[in-house]
Amino acid sequence: MTETTRTSSSTAVSPTDGPIAVTGASGYIGSWIVHDLMEQGYKVRACVRDTTNPDKVNHLEAMNTNTDLSGDVELFVGDLFERGSYDESFENCCAVIHAGASVGYNKETPQQVYDGCFTEVQHVIESVQKAGTVKRFVFTSSFAAVGHPRPAGYVFTEKDWCGDNIEGYRGAWTEENIPKKRDIAYAMAKANAERMIYRMAEEDGGFAAMAILPLHVIGPLMCANHDQGWSWQNCIRFMLQGKAYKKSKGGRMLWNNVDVRDVARAHRLCAESSVARNGSRYILSASDSSGELFTWELQNKLQTLYPEIQEIGGEHMEDGKPAEATYDSPRSYCSLAMQELGLTPYSIDETIKATVDSYFRLGLLP
Ligand SMILES: NC(=O)c1ccc[n+]([C@@H]2O[C@H](COP(=O)([O-])OP(=O)(O)OC[C@H]3O[C@@H](n4cnc5c(N)ncnc54)[C@H](OP(=O)(O)O)[C@@H]3O)[C@@H](O)[C@H]2O)c1
Repeated sequence: MTETTRTSSSTAVSPTDGPIAVTGASGYIGSWIVHDLMEQGYKVRACVRDTTNPDKVNHLEAMNTNTDLSGDVELFVGDLFERGSYDESFENCCAVIHAGASVGYNKETPQQVYDGCFTEVQHVIESVQKAGTVKRFVFTSSFAAVGHPRPAGYVFTEKDWCGDNIEGYRGAWTEENIPKKRDIAYAMAKANAERMIYRMAEEDGGFAAMAILPLHVIGPLMCANHDQGWSWQNCIRFMLQGKAYKKSKGGRMLWNNVDVRDVARAHRLCAESSVARNGSRYILSASDSSGELFTWELQNKLQTLYPEIQEIGGEHMEDGKPAEATYDSPRSYCSLAMQELGLTPYSIDETIKATVDSYFRLGLLP
């Protein structure tokens, strides 16, 4: 059957259709995907590089004894750079959620970041095709595949692509600039990998491919390993220690926050949706402007929620006001995920509290 004749509902999955495999299952987003699937009663194949590393798998194995979760999880070994590495774990699966990635975090050149993303996705898709049972493939892309310089206040939607460079406005997001800058390489890799999976799924006809595009992901950590130095949640830890984080100029930026539990749930809803089809992409960002906070607003919120903390770090303030203005971007809302997938996001206060509380619970904050 080809994608043109296959209806969207014919590829939608449910727990009775078989296991779902998750790549990058030990990661921050991957772990919550496993948790959400188990909550819904799925058998989950959690793919990790090392099944014996307690720092990365103990929290996954503990889910099997959590009586709130009706599904179960089994660990499988998988390395994204090894062809055929996922053949065994994808066998008989009805869906694959590809949340694993090494891209962008290590010390590769921008070109290696770009090429690595394709190698990883190609290996995963090859195993999907070998399995022959997979009906849905959900890829964790990024809002980076959407965002690019636009005038302040511009609201991005799923129709935007990072290479659009409308009217040449600060048009750096081009193929030629991939080798020059890591951010551009990462963004263009995610966007072009998305295009590749939609095309491959259409040619294959046996499965539909979709993507989730998260923005600033925060929310509860399940283990200390989720406190990666490059992550947004780690910036919040710095702020709670009274320090400025280094991810943006002078700590100034517009945080467009989404809860990691909503990001995870959206992946599963995508696999189950009879509305989503091959090529559907969903931005996972704030649900409304309450989740879009300039750093100084985030500082104020943290101070209100945790009045006992003496000093919250962040951007430089003068007389209670930000010393410098911040570029008003990225604005974007997860409206399509709410409309089409039925996502009901956490409030920003719930998300921030759950993030900070998990740091205290894990002993990562004194
Ligand atoms: N966090 C965000 O704010 C955010 C925003 C937008 C998009 N994303 C995307 O979301 C995805 C997940 O990110 P995350 O925040 O959950 O990061 P993470 O916590 O670092 O998780 C990524 C996982 O990928 C696995 N991995 C790395 N290299 C691998 C390899 N060679 N083979 C197999 N697995 C490998 C790692 O698992 P093991 O070490 O156990 O193998 C790791 O747990 C990524 O694609 C990222 O680009 C994240």
